[in-house]
Amino acid sequence: MSTPNAVPRVLGQYWLEETLGTGYSGVTFKAYHLKKRSSVALKVQRKRAANEHLIQERTAYRLLRTCKGIPALQASGTIGRWQYLAIDLLGPSLESLSQKIAKPAMDLRTVCCIAIQLISRLSTIHERGLLHRDIHPGNCLVGLPPNEGTVYLIDFAFSGRYKDPRTDEHIPYLQREQGPFVGNQWFTSKNVHCHLKEPARRDDMEAVAHTLIHLLTPGGLPWSIYGASEASAILDFVHTSKEHTLPEALCRGMPSEFKLFLQDCRQMKYTARPDYDHWTNAFRQLAQAHGFADIDRFIWPPPPLPLVSSEFAGGVEREGRSSIKGR
Ligand SMILES: Nc1ncnc2c1ncn2[C@@H]1O[C@H](COP(=O)(O)OP(=O)(O)OP(=O)(O)O)[C@@H](O)[C@H]1O
Ligand SMILES: [Mg+2]
Repeated sequence: MSTPNAVPRVLGQYWLEETLGTGYSGVTFKAYHLKKRSSVALKVQRKRAANEHLIQERTAYRLLRTCKGIPALQASGTIGRWQYLAIDLLGPSLESLSQKIAKPAMDLRTVCCIAIQLISRLSTIHERGLLHRDIHPGNCLVGLPPNEGTVYLIDFAFSGRYKDPRTDEHIPYLQREQGPFVGNQWFTSKNVHCHLKEPARRDDMEAVAHTLIHLLTPGGLPWSIYGASEASAILDFVHTSKEHTLPEALCRGMPSEFKLFLQDCRQMKYTARPDYDHWTNAFRQLAQAHGFADIDRFIWPPPPLPLVSSEFAGGVEREGRSSIKGR
């Protein structure tokens, strides 16, 4: 039955098919353009909602036009009571792929490839003066053929500038008011989440580090054990564990690159430019050391692991994951 808040089946020239996702800034549908005879991802939101996020997202997609690994904004506008963005249709997210695998965690080859691609995406986005501010595996999508080897970043609803576009100067540090932080409970950096610090390039990088560690850890990050609950006791638990779990404990049993990467993100100064090349090279060398050659393309399902020189192949069991206190 249709309700006043339900998006109609036909919106302008778009025929809405299945729902791809529902979130903070609207509902995303797979939609078919009746004249162009092609499909897009259509992100739709009620016009009267406080929807600066959709406008911010449109601005970001325009700034990032033609960048590798960023879907193109095909159209945007208003139809009746609805605002929409029509974006290149992509494949599944890293979150949904990680949930479908039979193994307890993703393998090292896959995670190194994701590391190289996500750090490269951040380099491009930051180069254009933007921060993403909501990096997590649900916002990292694999392309559809012939682009299935590329990991894309979507969802720029929380993006923002870190440089003044007129002067090219870094925006000065301002201690924010107490209030909700920007980003995702599990993946947002410790500084932004626990200390409400103003996000900068270092914090996008730290969210990538949390994403990689999550994908490589059986059951995910230690503070994800109770699921994505909004209950205040669970939110407090996430906050406290993120504050007190050291990189050494989070990355126990993994190649040292992951711990060093997280430590580097956390030690960076507010205005510092991350060393993107250093970290993409580090993860490429790590992959090579484990016998993975073709590391620049995302291959899913992952190829069989080499039989030699693989003391860590991913998904090593971690001891005492549930006992976070006292670390
Ligand atoms: N271009 C796309 N192609 C395929 N699926 C997409 C596309 N854009 C979004 N989706 C799907 O819809 C979901 C929600 O989209 P998006 O993250 O942009 O919305 P959101 O409202 O900001 O969600 P959230 O608050 O959960 O982050 C994504 O996680 C993804 O599964
Ligand atoms: Mg999202």
